[in-house]
Amino acid sequence: MPLEPCVIPDHPLWEVFHESSKWKPSDWAEVSRRAAAHSRAGGPAPARPRRGPPMALPAPAPGALLGVGLAAALRRRRSAREFAGLPLDLEDAGTLLWAAAGMIGADGSGLHARRTVPSAGACYPIDAYFWLPIPPGGVHPGPYHYDPIAHGAALVALGSPESNMSDLVTASAFPALIEQAGLLIVLAGVFSRTTERYGARGYRFVLLEAGHAAQNIYLAAAALDLAAVALGGLDDAMLDALLGLDGTRASVLYAVAVGRNPGDCPAGQGGRVDGYCGCD
Ligand SMILES: Cc1cc2nc3c(=O)[nH]c(=O)nc-3n(C[C@H](O)[C@H](O)[C@H](O)COP(=O)(O)O)c2cc1C
Repeated sequence: MPLEPCVIPDHPLWEVFHESSKWKPSDWAEVSRRAAAHSRAGGPAPARPRRGPPMALPAPAPGALLGVGLAAALRRRRSAREFAGLPLDLEDAGTLLWAAAGMIGADGSGLHARRTVPSAGACYPIDAYFWLPIPPGGVHPGPYHYDPIAHGAALVALGSPESNMSDLVTASAFPALIEQAGLLIVLAGVFSRTTERYGARGYRFVLLEAGHAAQNIYLAAAALDLAAVALGGLDDAMLDALLGLDGTRASVLYAVAVGRNPGDCPAGQGGRVDGYCGCD
């Protein structure tokens, strides 16, 4: 397929989609009616945790983010493409996943409990998957599906650690970067959760919400003194296949690779001060 497929002569696909998903004041009544009917019917079907061997994640530690103010995290945020090639602590991985998609509401049912990200109609169409390309001792590298309600994870591909990692590296446009990262979070959209309420415009909302999640990961990584980079250059079909997504109703959208900064020390062996690794 060409990069700019054209369904109407002289109009690229994005232009046709954008035009077709615009709202105008005369739509408000129908938008409200449809949203109310969707809420009355119970809203989107609750996201079901994926089946697979579970992996326990340490409880999210938002306290770890508190040492750095928001202004400092925003100033530190940048895309870094060099990682130390060291594992990430599971505590940090859990905190990053919580920042991306975690629960903050008091309602433990998961139906309407609030999350770290805003969501149109509280539909929460984004699922977070992750790999630990350099897993901490004894942990399978994944891929895992993050369950925000339990703050747990399930292994979704049952191959050997070696074959799962080589599949991931093959699917990536940035193999060297992935191999050095401690964590790769892949954000996938389950489109019907939002489109059944908002129609074609719901597709826009799903993409916007992936952006909210990715920015949270960037800021949490900055606060944890970790390096992060957003990855839009993905082999969609291959990643969908690795995660067991059909690619149409649910599909990968975006990813963020996170790693320790070059010059960092292995966990528990000193600390990094301005690029100098105290364990050298
Ligand atoms: C939607 C999106 C997709 C991106 N995809 C990639 C990517 O595939 N590879 C990459 O190295 N950086 C990617 N980036 C990171 C940008 O290159 C980066 O944000 C930009 O150069 C600005 O640098 P900064 O983030 O350090 O401010 C992406 C950023 C966004 C917002």
